[in-house]
Amino acid sequence: MRAMAVGVAVVGVVAAATLTMARPRAAMMTAPPIPKTGPLAQPRSTRQVGVPAVATRAAIPPDNPQTPEKIALGQKLFFDGRLSADGSVACSTCHDPARAFTDGRPASVGIGGRAGQRNAPTILNALYNATQFWDGRAKTLEEQAALPIVNPVEMGQPSLDAAVARIAAIPEYRDAFQTVFGGPPNGGDLLRAIASYERTQVSFDSPFDRFIAGDSRAIDAAARRGWELFNTRARCNKCHALTEQTRDVTYFTDNDFHNIGIGIIRHNVVALARQAEQAITSGDTSQIDRAAIQTDMSALGRFLITKRERDIAAFKTPGLRNVLVTGPYFHDGSQETLWDVMDHYNKGDGVQNPYLDEDIQPLALTEDDIDAVVAFLASLTSRDYEAQGIRELARQRELSRTHRPQRDTARAFGPRRH
Ligand code: HEC
Ligand code: HEC
Repeated sequence: MRAMAVGVAVVGVVAAATLTMARPRAAMMTAPPIPKTGPLAQPRSTRQVGVPAVATRAAIPPDNPQTPEKIALGQKLFFDGRLSADGSVACSTCHDPARAFTDGRPASVGIGGRAGQRNAPTILNALYNATQFWDGRAKTLEEQAALPIVNPVEMGQPSLDAAVARIAAIPEYRDAFQTVFGGPPNGGDLLRAIASYERTQVSFDSPFDRFIAGDSRAIDAAARRGWELFNTRARCNKCHALTEQTRDVTYFTDNDFHNIGIGIIRHNVVALARQAEQAITSGDTSQIDRAAIQTDMSALGRFLITKRERDIAAFKTPGLRNVLVTGPYFHDGSQETLWDVMDHYNKGDGVQNPYLDEDIQPLALTEDDIDAVVAFLASLTSRDYEAQGIRELARQRELSRTHRPQRDTARAFGPRRH
């Protein structure tokens, strides 16, 4: 209670509460065109440098074993607009293989051109996630896939059964379900097929993986220095590592949730938290999904699920593989380049934010240090996205020369919080 009172005093001055549904955004009339399947959408080999063999096997649930036919069915469904209410939106609309299974937008755009509040994460390596979504509201990929289908601004179906009915009307799908599951299409099997396709999207074989495997020249001196900084002065390993004790060369996440000060400036999170306490029934995942995608309560992050005060505006630590090609960054897509991300961390958080994670501190990184950490992050790009990565790094570097909205050197080199 005491901390909540502090929160009111501090955050209350920052912004007026917006307690209405979805902030208005420029509305398009239709969803963007559905990206097609292609070479980058194919199931990937698990024989890439860096693949964690044991964890990859463990990520396959016993009640949903992988078979080639099931994976092919899941792939077809992933790219099929007929899963959505008006046929215009597929999973791939927002998870485009050519964009490393993201959409490149700050926040996704779905059915009828309606925009949500959150940035689409990649599904590459999502099989390793301990939880799904920025706030972890789904445990498994099967559970996750059910939500966009019925979200009113994503695929817009009135129910999962409505999507199943649409699919069951197509003879080709009836045959495929019969072959794979031994029966007609149903919700559970539809989600299983999609999840098993997603579990084929393992993405390693980056310069960094080759470096760790022993090729000392696979990454340049700047990236090597960035990797050192990542684990020391830049403090990234406090969250982007399974444990702080050992260097994590695989996942780059602690599978936990933290408030790192994203979006908190734009929102009166305390007022929103009060609203959520009233409006959200604990455990009602589809209600939470709507609040997260369609309302300003999105900014509350993990709090929507736990209703614990310390989870206000806490979001899941994302893994960092392929991060160069999955921008813009953070749960709200608010940062355009990795330099902006670094500037955010370097200055620690701006507003006095009572829920800020204690590991967020001014870092006193020089421009050289920042370039080095970015070079390290860029070295996490899988071979499949190498060409995009080169173009994207050049684009971001160019932009960062003239445009550094988050840079605040005085604060970066200023006093620590505690
Ligand atoms: C209109 C855009 C849109 C569509 C369509 C869509 N997604 Fe997403 N997806 C998102 C956004 C945005 C998020 C993050 C939402 C959040 O965390 O609250 C997300 C999150 C995810 C995640 C969690 C990844 C992680 O790292 O936590 C997975 C997996 C995923 N989507 C798979 C799918 C599948 C499968 C479908 C089709 C059944 C689908 N998506 C349809 C936009 C979309
Ligand atoms: C206190 C924990 C913490 C620390 C320390 C931390 N991060 Fe993060 N990181 C997170 C969380 C949580 C998010 C997601 C936050 C959000 O979107 O609101 C995130 C997001 C990111 C993203 C955006 C990824 C995406 O897909 O949008 C990048 C890049 C990143 N961090 C890199 C770094 C680097 C580099 C460092 C060190 C300079 C660092 N992080 C330090 C917890 C942390």
